[in-house]
Amino acid sequence: MPAIISKAPGKTILFGEHAVVYGYPAIAVPIDAVQVRVTILPAITKNQSIIKIRNINWHEDIPFAELDEYDPIRISIENVCAHIKQKPPHFEMIISSSIPIAAGLGSSAALAVAITKGISQFLGTYLSNDEINALAYKSEKVQHGSPSGIDNSVITFGKPILFRKTEPISQIEIKSSIHIILADTGKRILTKEVVALVKQNLEKEPEFFKPILAEIGDVVEEAAKALLYGEIKKIGNLMVRNHIALKKLRVSSIELDRLVESALKNGAFGAKLCGGGKGGYIVAICEPASCERVSLGLVSDGATHIISTMIKGSKQGN
Ligand code: MEV
Repeated sequence: MPAIISKAPGKTILFGEHAVVYGYPAIAVPIDAVQVRVTILPAITKNQSIIKIRNINWHEDIPFAELDEYDPIRISIENVCAHIKQKPPHFEMIISSSIPIAAGLGSSAALAVAITKGISQFLGTYLSNDEINALAYKSEKVQHGSPSGIDNSVITFGKPILFRKTEPISQIEIKSSIHIILADTGKRILTKEVVALVKQNLEKEPEFFKPILAEIGDVVEEAAKALLYGEIKKIGNLMVRNHIALKKLRVSSIELDRLVESALKNGAFGAKLCGGGKGGYIVAICEPASCERVSLGLVSDGATHIISTMIKGSKQGN
């Protein structure tokens, strides 16, 4: 069997996190600057599969048989084998990832997508994106309880998407290229914990929290149009409106608010927390000339890591 290399990008949600869990639309884009890479080779030791984690600060070799029954790596491998009706093969799997874990950038969904693609190809089966997406969603459900499915979808398709739980995934057109800065608070919290908190709040005070979800839904509808027409200032203002709504939803934090304010005061068009919130990253958009000032400002206001990247627009010359 030949070696297989399979990769999956990170993601950021530009608009609509949390409300998307309750059926509202959301907009997400892949972040190719970070990725999970999975290499699968035939097993060296007969009858034993081994998982080798090779991240910058985490090196570990774990026999597949010793993985916990809810381990995301085991779940993804077993799901894909069940789908293609083959027994898990004996393999050596090397996993390396530059996507920060529990930071809102889609690390678990990217792992599920890369493993699903890799193992199926290792077994000689080429799955469609829809199949990969459905299998990755199955793995995500074990990890997160009730994910909307936006993370696995944007990562599987590798394109900006407008996502709504009950509708087919649609690719979104972004007219002008957008420069993005992602800045890390350095705090980590599992998305499922923040999603559970929002659920609790909604159950306790529906009359206060439900309109906030509707407000986020409105922001997303407006943002989809602004992206289509390349109205960068409007996109920025809508990001700020989205962040204010997320603050009211109680998923922001002092650190996230500080980084959002920092980006805005240094000239970003807009900024907001991204993903589950309570920690992790913020996303800011800015014109190329102010990216450096925004990044330096974010670092001096406490950001522990910066990712600077671009979403390519569909308009020629962008
Ligand atoms: C996580 O990236 C985004 C959330 O909306 C959860 C979800 O959609 O599953 C917070």
